[in-house]
Amino acid sequence: MAPSGHQIQLEENESILDAALRQGVMLPYSCRGGSCGACEGRVLCGAVDYPNGKPEAITAEQAAAGVALLCQARAKVDCTVQVCELGGEEAVPPRVLPARLMKKTRLAHDVMQLDLQLPPNQRLQFRAGQYIDLLLPGGKRRSFSLANPPEHDDALQLHVREVPEGYFSGQLEGLREKSVLRLEGPHGQFWLRSEHQRPAVFIAGGTGYAPLRAMLMQAFDAGYEPPIHLFWGVRSEQDLYSKEAEIWAAQHKGFSFTPVLSEPDSDWQGRSGWVHKTVLDSYPALQGFDVYMAGPPPMIEAAKSEFLAAGLPQDQLFFDSFEYAAAGVTGSSS
Ligand SMILES: Cc1cc2nc3c(=O)[nH]c(=O)nc-3n(C[C@H](O)[C@H](O)[C@H](O)COP(=O)(O)OP(=O)(O)OC[C@H]3O[C@@H](n4cnc5c(N)ncnc54)[C@H](O)[C@@H]3O)c2cc1C
Ligand code: FES
Repeated sequence: MAPSGHQIQLEENESILDAALRQGVMLPYSCRGGSCGACEGRVLCGAVDYPNGKPEAITAEQAAAGVALLCQARAKVDCTVQVCELGGEEAVPPRVLPARLMKKTRLAHDVMQLDLQLPPNQRLQFRAGQYIDLLLPGGKRRSFSLANPPEHDDALQLHVREVPEGYFSGQLEGLREKSVLRLEGPHGQFWLRSEHQRPAVFIAGGTGYAPLRAMLMQAFDAGYEPPIHLFWGVRSEQDLYSKEAEIWAAQHKGFSFTPVLSEPDSDWQGRSGWVHKTVLDSYPALQGFDVYMAGPPPMIEAAKSEFLAAGLPQDQLFFDSFEYAAAGVTGSSS
C-alpha cells in the first residue's frame, strides 16, 4: 500500500479490500458491491482484474488509467496500490455473532423493525451509523444499518424495507420471532465526525433514516452543539415511519427536521420533490457543512454529483449507499 508501506497477503479469490480489513489495514468502503466508488484506489505497479466483471462505479477509461475499486479487485500479480488509509484508532475489526430475533414491529406498510439480541455477555463494538451483514443460507449476505447507537444496545435495531420477491426482505412475514440469525459486523465508515465541530446536513432516503437516527441519538446524548438539519425524503406521508424527528426538533435547539415527499397527497403542506434538490434550495452554498446521507443508490448518486458541483468539498461528504446485492454473487463481497 502506498504511501504507508503496509503489506498485505491475499488469499485465493480474495478482494484487496477484504484482505486489507482482515489484516487490520482500514481502507474506506461502503457498499462492497462495486457500485458506490468509496473504495477507489490507484494501481501504481502490478495489475488487477475483476472476476465478477468490471464494477459499475468505474469507467473503462478509469480502469485503463489505473483506477481500481478495491472491494472487487483481485491482484493478478504483486501490486502496489495507492489508497487513503484510515487511522488505526478507527479500526474495529468485524466479527461473526449469533443473534436472536426478539421482536418484529411493523413501522410502515413496507418497513419492518427487527430487534436482535446477542448472547449474554456478548457485545457488538460499533460506532453509531455503521452497518452489519446478515449471513444467510446459501452463502448470501445482506447489509443493514444499525438504527441504534452502541449506548442503547439492549437490542440491535434494524429498519428493513420489504422488497417484493426480495431474497431476505421479501420473506420477513415468515421469519419467526425467537429464531436465530448470524450477523457479521461492524462494517462501514459512516459515523459522525464530531471532531469537525461543523454544522451538518443529514439526508435520509426511506430506511436511510436508520443510521442517521443512531447518529442523532448519540449526538443528543453527548450534548453535541453544532446545528444539524435532517431532511427525510420518502414517497408519501405514510412512508414517514417515525415521529421521533419531530419530537427531537421541539426538544433540541440546534436540530431541525424537514420531511420531503416525492409523491405528496393534495393536502400535504410541507416540502415536496427530490430530497437533494430541497437541500440545495435551503443551502445553496454547502461549503461550510458536513453532509451525511444514506439511502437508495439513485438518491446518493444524484446528490453526490450535484453537491460536489455546488462546491461541497469531497472530504466533507459522508454516505452509505444502500446498494442491492449483485445477482449471483455470494460470500464476502456480495
Ligand atoms: C451499506 C448498506 C446498508 C444498508 N442498510 C439497509 C437498511 O438499513 N435498511 C434496508 O431496508 N436496506 C438496507 N440496505 C439494502 C439491503 O442490504 C438489501 O439490499 C435489501 O434489503 C434487499 O435485499 P433482499 O434480499 O430483500 O432483496 P434481493 O433479493 O437482493 O433483491 C430482489 C430484487 O429487488 C431489487 N431491489 C433490491 N432492493 C431494492 C430496493 N430497495 N428498491 C428497489 N429494488 C430493489 C434487486 O435489484 C432485485 O432485483 C443496505 C445496503 C447496504 C449496502
Ligand atoms: S464500490 Fe467498493 S465499496 Fe462501494
